[in-house]
Order: sequence, then structure tokens, then C-alpha cells
Amino acid sequence: MRRAKITIIGAGNVGATTAHWCAAAELGDIVLVDIPATEDMPKGKALDLMESSPVMGFDSNIVGTTDYADTADSDVIVITAGIPRKPGMSRDDLLATNAKIMTAVSEQIKETSPNAVVIVVSNPLDAMVQRCAQVTGFPKERVLGQAGVLDTARYRTFLAMELGVSVEDISALLMGGHGDTMVPLPSCTSVGGIPITQLISKERLDEIVDRARKGGAEIVGLLKTGSAFYAPAAACAQMVEAIVKDKKRVIPCAAYCDEEYGVGGYYVGVPIVLGSGGVEKVVEIDLTEEEKAAFQNSIDAVKGLVSTMAELV
Ligand code: NAI
Ligand code: 2OP
Repeated sequence: MRRAKITIIGAGNVGATTAHWCAAAELGDIVLVDIPATEDMPKGKALDLMESSPVMGFDSNIVGTTDYADTADSDVIVITAGIPRKPGMSRDDLLATNAKIMTAVSEQIKETSPNAVVIVVSNPLDAMVQRCAQVTGFPKERVLGQAGVLDTARYRTFLAMELGVSVEDISALLMGGHGDTMVPLPSCTSVGGIPITQLISKERLDEIVDRARKGGAEIVGLLKTGSAFYAPAAACAQMVEAIVKDKKRVIPCAAYCDEEYGVGGYYVGVPIVLGSGGVEKVVEIDLTEEEKAAFQNSIDAVKGLVSTMAELV
């Protein structure tokens, strides 16, 4: 049986770490791609990872390249190509540079892997997914973005730290764009089945929600040279796994919503069923009035970003 072919574009922090998690979980064979200016860097990272396989005990073939011919007929493509932010920058400050990079990458994958499911990671995320979908012209269910798994993981981590319980018992959901307007949903947060509102005061929960919203900036402030990559890469690997194993995971991802939630044709973070076909369903849930207003605010921010991008590309 042919192993899944997973191409990861951008062999930097998020890309190489995604390759690491995917290989360790034996999700398939991996092609790690970067630009020619990086010379042999992707080859070096791929070989280094391969050489860890006898110790870690995985059978994945990992190659590094700057040639898209090596990526031909990939089943899943993860796009991490682009610049990350530095202290003082917002994700939106990356728009002009990363929109050009996303255009170039999308033109390549359109030709070489026309049947792939594409997971976009580059920021500003919601605009970059839109750009990838525009350029590839792939069906909407085969282009999606990673943000919600990461943002929800941060929220779950902070809740587990607060309560002194296992992260495994925290179930939560976060919607909206991957920016300061993202919307954690206390109404969909529980601990071992117990609604979160029975365990934490509203004031404290608001503080935790606020920390989750600013979780990316917190890491940028600590690292100083770039942005988070371990948790983002783990989130990407979970999405790759859902696709290659057709797991039908119910997780938040940036997916195309038209009539869904009345979004009107944009990519925003919503709960989806993720399987081998990509976005198999956008799950529509009832939100409280407060959550609805926050979600609308987040959609408006995404629309603003997409219209700014239209002037740049
Ligand atoms: P990085 O700087 O470590 O790696 C980026 C890599 O992309 C570099 O190796 C660079 O050479 C490569 N690259 C640039 N142009 C390219 C092109 N045209 N084709 C192929 N490769 C190209 O950055 P890092 O930390 O890996 O972040 C990558 C992107 O992911 C950033 O835009 C960052 O903001 C975003 N990000 C998004 C997250 C999310 O939750 N959606 C989480 C973390 C990062
Ligand atoms: C994050 O949230 C940089 O978007 C990335 O860490």
C-alpha cells in the first residue's frame, strides 16, 4: 500500500517541526520544500530527521528539496512559507510579503498536486487561506487553514493550569479569525463533562480567555526572534493525521463559509468535520448573543484584511 505523501512548504520553524511530528507519528512520507536561496537547508533538515528514525523507530521517508517536481501528486500539503512576526508586529503586518509568497506557492502546487488537500498556516492566516483558494482554484473543501486547533490548545492549556487537572479532560472550542478578535466559547467549554462556568468565576474565565487570545503575542514577546512553532506544528500534525487516516475529527479550522453562519464567502475559524476529503462538513452551532456579536466582529476583521489584500496582489 502506498504511504500518504505529505508535502510541507517552508522548512523553517513551523515547517520542520511539523515534519518532525508527522514523521514520528508515521503519518506518511514527507517532502520538505523551501526556496532556492536557502540552498541545501531543507535537504539538511530532512536528512537529520531521517537519521533520527532508527532511534525513534519510525519508517517515514523524508526528503528536502527546492524543486516542486519532488512534491508531485502529494495527498496533503501544509503551507508554512512566509515570514513570521517579531515583537511589536501584528499578524496583519505580514500581509504584503506573505500574500506574494502565498501566490507563488499556490501557483506551483496547482500544477504539481492538483488533487491535494491543502492546509495553510502562513499569517495572516484567514487572508492567506483565501489567497491560496483563489490562486489554486481547488474545491473549497480541499483548502483550509490551521489556527483553531492551536488557539483552542492554548485556551485548554491555560484552563488545565488554572484548575490543576489533565489537559486531556478539557474540551473546548474557539471560533473566528486567527487574530485578536478570535472568539473562545465558554458555552462550549467543559472539564470532564462539567460546564466550565461551574468551576471558574466569570471574571477569572475572562482573564484566561484574554490570555488565549493574546497567546501568539505572548510567545513572540518571549522568543524575540520569531513566533511560536512547537504548538502550531503539533496542531498541523493533528490535522494531517485527520486527513490521512480519514478520522472525521471535529475540530476548529479556517474553512470556507458562505451561507454557513451567514459569513458570505470568507474563510473563518469554525468547527468542521475533517477527513480524507478535507472539510467534510461545517458544523453550525447555536451561539449566545454575546458570542454571536464577538463572532461577527471577528468576521468583519477578516473581511477587512481580505479587502486590504485585494489591493496588494
Ligand atoms: P520561519 O521563518 O522559521 O520559516 C519560514 C520559511 O518559509 C523559511 O525557511 C523561508 O525560507 C520559507 N519561505 C519563504 N518564502 C518561501 C517560498 N516562496 N517557498 C517556500 N518557502 C518559502 O517562520 P515560521 O516560524 O516557520 O512561520 C512560518 C509562517 O507561519 C509565518 O507566516 C507565521 O506567522 C505563520 N504561523 C502561523 C501559525 C498559525 O497558527 N496559523 C502559527 C505559527 C506560525
Ligand atoms: C501564533 O499564534 C504566530 O500565529 C502564530 O503563535
